[in-house]
Amino acid sequence: MPTYPELTRKQIKLWNRNAGMYDLMSMPMEHMMGFGKARAKLFEGLTGKILELGVGTGRNIPYYPEGARVVAIDISKKMISKAEDKAKKLSNVVSFEVADVEELPFDDKSFDVVVATGVFCCVPDQVRGFKEAKRVLKEGGKIILLEHVRPAGLLGRIFDILDPIVSNIMGPHINKRTLESIKEAGLTIIEEKNIFSDWVKLVIAK
Ligand SMILES: C[S@@+](CC[C@H](N)C(=O)[O-])C[C@H]1O[C@@H](n2cnc3c(N)ncnc32)[C@H](O)[C@@H]1O
Repeated sequence: MPTYPELTRKQIKLWNRNAGMYDLMSMPMEHMMGFGKARAKLFEGLTGKILELGVGTGRNIPYYPEGARVVAIDISKKMISKAEDKAKKLSNVVSFEVADVEELPFDDKSFDVVVATGVFCCVPDQVRGFKEAKRVLKEGGKIILLEHVRPAGLLGRIFDILDPIVSNIMGPHINKRTLESIKEAGLTIIEEKNIFSDWVKLVIAK
């Protein structure tokens, strides 16, 4: 068992605690903020070896392409166990592993695609996480992200004030400057689309 930094340990504790409630707790994100509709399209046409980071309770499992091989990781055993239950009914292309986005237990250049939905809001050192995603990606591969980020303007400043309360109770941070971290990790954004205002974004990077 690795020794995780304190902020990561805090995330593990929160997600193990919230695993039973997550599908209910995230309904507003799913149905009002575009996550549900957007996730259906993320895996369209993907083939080869796919890594899903922070699989959670397995909300993306219904969309895993039949011919692909998916490795799904999460830092929370309880979230993975929910995802495993879903996979038993919905997909036979996936295997699961408990792992940290910031320290992926995979060889360099071992995946064709890396996918993450609503994960980097929780990762303490986003840049390190994106560098890891870049490292395990094969030449010509891509990273597909559906993430909520710090919105611009007044709303962003309000999120800065609310963030300590939200993150302490739920886990996710609502004011992460994720696009900046992607670039800082040496990745290039090839597509960026607003899914819900400038708050929820679909980002494709390489
Ligand atoms: C908001 S949930 C999103 C779950 C799922 N991707 C979805 O779209 O519903 C965030 C997930 O990221 C996981 N997580 C947080 N920090 C992580 C890390 N450093 N490494 C791996 N997983 C992490 C949590 O355990 C949780 O399952």
